[in-house]
Amino acid sequence: MKTYPIVAGNWKMHKTPNEGILFVKKTVNMLLDIQKVTIIFSPPFTTLFELDVEAPFYLGAQNCHWESQGAFTGEISPEMLVDCGVEFVIVGHSERRHVFHESDEWINNKVHAVLNAKMKSILCIGETLEDRESNQTKSILSSQLSKGLNGIKSLENIVLAYEPVWAIGTGKTASIEQIEEAHQLIRSELQKDFSTEESQNVSILYGGSVKDDNARELISIEGVDGFLIGGASLKAESFTAIARNVEQQMKETI
Ligand code: PGA
Repeated sequence: MKTYPIVAGNWKMHKTPNEGILFVKKTVNMLLDIQKVTIIFSPPFTTLFELDVEAPFYLGAQNCHWESQGAFTGEISPEMLVDCGVEFVIVGHSERRHVFHESDEWINNKVHAVLNAKMKSILCIGETLEDRESNQTKSILSSQLSKGLNGIKSLENIVLAYEPVWAIGTGKTASIEQIEEAHQLIRSELQKDFSTEESQNVSILYGGSVKDDNARELISIEGVDGFLIGGASLKAESFTAIARNVEQQMKETI
């Protein structure tokens, strides 16, 4: 069964705990009537413990380590996140892959650890501009997908996010055709390892310069089940406008 579309904000390294608390209060108040959209706030770790939200609002973390505890200076474990009420963890974001050089193997360890801790993993995949220009998009997406999900038996607690690296934070969105093609490709690649039903029903988000003025068009694309949003998730006005556009689209398609 398809779940409600997801509007997930990835705050990255923005907002102090106090700013985050005020922001979440304001946003939740602005969206009290939302019914058919799952809304996720992914603040920095320092803010997570301070937040308490109820469905359809959820807490997400931007990263985690795969071990439960140990000598890993600067890291946070899945169990620590669970204790903060976190239900989703973003894994393999392009900034983790490209700025912090996370390998597919690490990313796969994290996906397993998140699921073992009974949270849901938002696994991000996406090609760079260089990959796209050298016709590597398909092979990069299928490789990141199969390596990231290596050993995973069910897609039940997996959400995928297609985020072309060249569209993140650049103001450039992928075209409708590019997004549709990538999402189709992801579903057909998934069918190699998972049932048709699971592959069709898994939520695949799009991320990369989603804004209030393009959300409506992007959510109408076949196979797009929501968004992972960076910049536009930092302002209550733009984030709530995106959520409203998604809810409106849901209502019109039922
Ligand atoms: P952006 O970031 O919306 O600012 O492009 C998306 C992301 O990094 O997930």
